[in-house]
Amino acid sequence: MSRTYRIAVIGGDGIGPEVTDAGLCVLDAAEKRFGFRTERTSVDWSAEKYTTGFRVTQEMIEPLRSYDAILLGAIGHPDAPRGLPEADIIFGLRRGFDLYVNLRPIVLYDDRLCPLKGRSTKDVDIVVVRENTEDVYGRPIEVEAEGTPDEAVWSKMIFTRRGTERIVRYAFELARTRPRKRLTLVDKANALRLQDIYRRVLEEVGREYPDVEHDAMYVDACSMWMVLHPERFDVIVTTNLFGDIITDLGAAIVGGLGTGASGNIHPGKVSVFEPIHGSAPKYTGQGVASPVGAIGALALMLDHVGERDAAKAVDRAIREGFSSGRIKGVEAGSGRTMDVAAGIARTVTEGT
Ligand code: IPM
Ligand code: MG
Repeated sequence: MSRTYRIAVIGGDGIGPEVTDAGLCVLDAAEKRFGFRTERTSVDWSAEKYTTGFRVTQEMIEPLRSYDAILLGAIGHPDAPRGLPEADIIFGLRRGFDLYVNLRPIVLYDDRLCPLKGRSTKDVDIVVVRENTEDVYGRPIEVEAEGTPDEAVWSKMIFTRRGTERIVRYAFELARTRPRKRLTLVDKANALRLQDIYRRVLEEVGREYPDVEHDAMYVDACSMWMVLHPERFDVIVTTNLFGDIITDLGAAIVGGLGTGASGNIHPGKVSVFEPIHGSAPKYTGQGVASPVGAIGALALMLDHVGERDAAKAVDRAIREGFSSGRIKGVEAGSGRTMDVAAGIARTVTEGT
């Protein structure tokens, strides 16, 4: 019986469509080698369209629920109304489909990519589990006395028991599958007293995972430790806002935004996979953007739909690309987008 998955593809803006195509070329190779199929539907949404008044509504997002997964390129355009495409499309998908896990591996593919002195691939192997539906993120704003010296604006920062528990539990489960079995909660519970809920839930849920060592750290200290002692971290669980910030820092210590991939996941349900870089307007259409982040996102997607061997093969092929020197770097221009993808696809086909 053939395994068939329905994939929606949102190329989006700028380099998004190019790197997504590169990912699909690797997906072709994975299908042939591992004997599954995908039916792909392209969805034509972008921030650029917002410059002409186009909007993506929850009604338009809803039909994507029936897919197995969604591959996303990048959303962002300099002339689009700030925050609107992000709110509609990115938060629309994350909140609309309750994608409560934002999974962001911080993996050093090659020693050459690390800007930290004396560090090598064995020192940086972190997975950040960012809560993806709560916090102050994308919340409505309230305004008082607008335009006067007394103007005040505020939003609610909300953490629920259910939301906290499920993300902490996901992180413990993940930590349990990794050799070091270590989980660190990152918060700011000393200044944001409401984040004590994370501390309490960590201790409670932690009792069910005696095999996983856990601790907690403030986000400012974490930022320092990630640079000075990245080897200290295995799995990190954190809130939406802090997860956004520390994963850019994480990307920086493994070679820049070009390497990173992320999954917006609800286990067992439709989930969204994307590179963490943006639309990079100045490189659009030149075929020079690195597809490594998009291909990493493809690997996460394959794992999510249950094609674990294919996921591992894609991941190994990326690593082999760097170790053989065929992939020179992840800066735009360090290689042609499609050449890099074709090399990885070939490795997937032939095996490593
Ligand atoms: C990310 C991005 C988004 C976020 C932006 C584009 C709204 O920075 O996925 O990390 O803040 O979540
Ligand atoms: Mg971000």
